[in-house]
Amino acid sequence: MSEFQRVASVDDIAPGERIAAIVDDVPVLVLRVGDNYYCIEDVCTHDGQPLTDGPLEGNEITCPRHGARFDVTSGAALSMPAFEAVPTYEVKIEDGAVLVSVT
Ligand code: FES
Repeated sequence: MSEFQRVASVDDIAPGERIAAIVDDVPVLVLRVGDNYYCIEDVCTHDGQPLTDGPLEGNEITCPRHGARFDVTSGAALSMPAFEAVPTYEVKIEDGAVLVSVT
């Protein structure tokens, strides 16, 4: 069974913004696109750079180190030099809180 943990209030993350957190020892990035929230592992699959400060345009985040792009809704790698998807995690909203499960 999934263990959801609170990472933020819905109002803590403006549209187009993100918040980094550690959930069960996993560094995660929770992103808001419009009114939808997504969670990816905060580690670029190219060479381990945190994606925390990467530019986010629509669904796409760009790694600040070498420019690989990922779809935050699926984790898919969209451009070189990354080939592997970043893991994605379940997000749910409950009583104004953003909850994430990495299990
Ligand atoms: S570490 Fe992210 S593109 Fe190289």
